[in-house]
Amino acid sequence: MTLIAPSILSADFTRLGEEVKAVEHAGADWIHIDVMDGQFVPNISYGPIVVEACKRATDMVLDVHLMIETPDARIPDFAKAGADYISVHAEACPHLHRSLQLIKSFDVKAGVALNPATPLSSIEYVIDLLDFVLIMSVNPGFGGQTFINSSLNKITALSKMLSDAGSTAIIQVDGGVNTDTMEAVTRAGACCFVAGSAIFNTPDYKKTIDELRKLSEKGNV
Ligand code: DX5
Ligand code: ZN
Repeated sequence: MTLIAPSILSADFTRLGEEVKAVEHAGADWIHIDVMDGQFVPNISYGPIVVEACKRATDMVLDVHLMIETPDARIPDFAKAGADYISVHAEACPHLHRSLQLIKSFDVKAGVALNPATPLSSIEYVIDLLDFVLIMSVNPGFGGQTFINSSLNKITALSKMLSDAGSTAIIQVDGGVNTDTMEAVTRAGACCFVAGSAIFNTPDYKKTIDELRKLSEKGNV
């Protein structure tokens, strides 16, 4: 399974609805929505009203990546705005188990995001609650950064950890995913690929998404 999730962080915000529809017609599977609070990460992006706007523009899965402090206070608003998947950062959640339960209480799929320096052991005791795990392959905060290679070993180890635990959680990779890195991240074990600049900074979204999918198939052996 290959799920392509364009991150609207790199979209043209003067035409957000059109951009969302354009990637949908180009064959995207999910829309990835990066929420940043200027505290957990050194950048500020957007909140629930952008999720709501995406909901009006498409029926695609809306995948909300919360790069914010105290996410529990905001999860209800994002769920009500139409999120289908919500990930919280392990580093921002002292009560991670409770945060995941809260997401699931809204019938939303729950995931944990891990910064490049955060060990996999931080999710060891919540695996049973996870629908997905987001491996950050850049330090979160900005689009267009360079892929951090150590994420590959981390994805491989996570893949083993999940299968050992009998978990069906899927592995999502986010940051620096493009035509150069796609094959390797697939081979490592990821199946959901967030890509911002690699898609929105190219003139032909369909051509890029087709190419990413082909590279993923090549790595999926
Ligand atoms: C980074 C965000 C990413 C970002 C990826 O903090 O979580 O989703 O949009 O951008 P690219 O694909 O350009 O690295
Ligand atoms: Zn993201």
